[in-house]
Amino acid sequence: MLAIKNLSVSYGHKVVLTVPKLNINKGEIIGIMGQSGSGKSTLVNSCLGLVAYKGKIAVNTHDIGVLMQEQHYVDTMTNQKVIEGLLNTRIKSDRKLFDLINFFDFNSQLSLHFKNLSGGQKQRMSLIMLLYQEPTLLFLDEMTTGLDFESRRALIKKLKVYFKEHQTTVIMVTHYAQEIEALADKLLIIHDGQVKAFDQPKKLFQQYIGYSAFIIDNDVTKTVKVQKLEDEYKTVHQLLDDSDDFSRTRSSIELVYTEIMKGNVHG
Ligand SMILES: Nc1ncnc2c1ncn2[C@@H]1O[C@H](COP(=O)(O)OP(=O)(O)OP(=O)(O)O)[C@@H](O)[C@H]1O
Ligand SMILES: [Mg+2]
Repeated sequence: MLAIKNLSVSYGHKVVLTVPKLNINKGEIIGIMGQSGSGKSTLVNSCLGLVAYKGKIAVNTHDIGVLMQEQHYVDTMTNQKVIEGLLNTRIKSDRKLFDLINFFDFNSQLSLHFKNLSGGQKQRMSLIMLLYQEPTLLFLDEMTTGLDFESRRALIKKLKVYFKEHQTTVIMVTHYAQEIEALADKLLIIHDGQVKAFDQPKKLFQQYIGYSAFIIDNDVTKTVKVQKLEDEYKTVHQLLDDSDDFSRTRSSIELVYTEIMKGNVHG
């Protein structure tokens, strides 16, 4: 679906992103994480042809959808008029649009104006219009930033169902491990303009953590790694004696991310 080779992006004399090779298959959902300024949006913008780059990016479709962090629409009309106008259709005679509006629970917002919607409602309206066009490749840059915990969880749940059903290839930039855990097939970590990891979360966990890990006091920097099942019992006994609170994980993205970044800072 998307193949990158020898990509290099510079602003002025500074190279801000280099990607020797990266392939994304049809139907895969990729979650991109990395510190602020690491090059995540630059990668997305290169794929969209929005910034100048050296190297090759081959995109295998013309049906590309993009959701940026903030959207703006005309504010003199109701949301219904905006949606119908931009999509050139009518809700009551268009089954696909009608279904999407129901799917995203947007009915009661149709008579409002965009500026009066909450952050989550704004994102849902944009997604309705975006998904109506059935993109085969979808870029989401910080889709849930600014949403409260519950709206984020609700939106993720909806999208999970939608993406599965439509086999959409998705590339999403996020600061939320929860989003990756729920949606992504592969995690891409960018640090300082370089790809530090790109694989299935489960594989990255095995590679960087081991069999399992115990997180103490909900603090991923206080972690006991376990390399095999037999060692878990010993660890649990010790933790029961020593700690107030701990949890066991075999998949925490936050932990994987922290571990990979730690390696980079010190290495
Ligand atoms: N138009 C621009 N001109 C000059 N430098 C830029 C421009 N856009 C981005 N940069 C620089 O390129 C680097 C990567 O920026 P990018 O926007 O890709 O980061 P990001 O990972 O998306 O960060 P964030 O999480 O804050 O959105 C940063 O050092 C940034 O300052
Ligand atoms: Mg960005």
